[in-house]
Amino acid sequence: MIDQITLRQPDDWHLHLRDGALLESVIGYTARVFRRAIVMPNLTPPVTTIEAARNYKKRILNAVPDNLSFTPLMTAYLTDDFSAEVLEKGFDEGVFIAAKLYPANSTTNSSSGVSDIRKIDSLLETMERIDMPLLIHGEDTDPLIDIFDREAVFIDRHLQPIFKRFPKLRVVLEHITTVDAVQFVETSGFRLAATITPHHLHINRNAMFLEGFRSDFFCLPIVKREKHRLALRQAATSGKSCFFLGTDSAPHLRGAKENACACAGIFNSPYAIESYAEVFEEENSLNRLEAFCSEFGPSFYGLPVNTSSIKLVRRSCLVPENLHLGRRSQDLSIVPFHAGENLNWSFVNIEK
Ligand code: NCD
Ligand code: ZN
Repeated sequence: MIDQITLRQPDDWHLHLRDGALLESVIGYTARVFRRAIVMPNLTPPVTTIEAARNYKKRILNAVPDNLSFTPLMTAYLTDDFSAEVLEKGFDEGVFIAAKLYPANSTTNSSSGVSDIRKIDSLLETMERIDMPLLIHGEDTDPLIDIFDREAVFIDRHLQPIFKRFPKLRVVLEHITTVDAVQFVETSGFRLAATITPHHLHINRNAMFLEGFRSDFFCLPIVKREKHRLALRQAATSGKSCFFLGTDSAPHLRGAKENACACAGIFNSPYAIESYAEVFEEENSLNRLEAFCSEFGPSFYGLPVNTSSIKLVRRSCLVPENLHLGRRSQDLSIVPFHAGENLNWSFVNIEK
């Protein structure tokens, strides 16, 4: 049995860092392990201009602890009236790495998202031409559709037609949750990839209702049946380059989660790499962990792989029930994913 893992330093290809005091509190958990991250633009107000993305990037860099190297990769938040010229300019200038499509009202801070995908055809045409990746929150927002079916319906109703209209557009279907998504991604060729989160690999929908309603396990897309979790585990550990790491770590303060209208999102960045390592070991695939964490993402985005590495050792680590972040004057309590559990692997350090 191996008791140490060295990996090329990973990147997180889907991350929510928030802003202000919360950003300052959470950034270290990502930057201590990950070299780069695709930063989601669903702030209030959302990141819809080049200037907003530049400024947000500066705030992120200012918040990174001095001893760590971390590069945020910024995304544009698409709206019905986002201009194609601005999108292209932001991409050409290297400010936007990709653009994020939130169907309006599909998830946290998505009310300014796209109300009808047909309305952004000129943006998609531009993105296809300049080879700018489109990152999709793939859920249909029709209130008549069962919440557990929204991803599968999105693929049929929207993603397939997008590919018909824009056959060369490169897309990441973010945080996939179903066997339907796995199969669609596997059969779509190099133009489509998917990120997979730690939580969708670990829990099924029963976790949300164990002896009461557990809002700490409420996220969007919502966790699904066991058969879907098993399909995701197979996909993540398959060694197929279309599946790669994206935590979707989405911090919400304890008060916002313990609320009659609990916010969607799971804060998993503090133990994300340990969490993925556990899954890969359980699936007898530790030899494929590095490619999933550190190689397939850069390959899809056309970026170099990192030259540094990280070390994990087989040592039990107990995840705290609650993290008290922020300064003493403002307690920013957040419950991390795996709270109260023991994980088998512990992150040790980054090696240059
Ligand atoms: C995310 C958030 O809180 O920003 N929430 C979530 O449940 N994943 C938004 C998102 O990625 O859907
Ligand atoms: Zn997300």
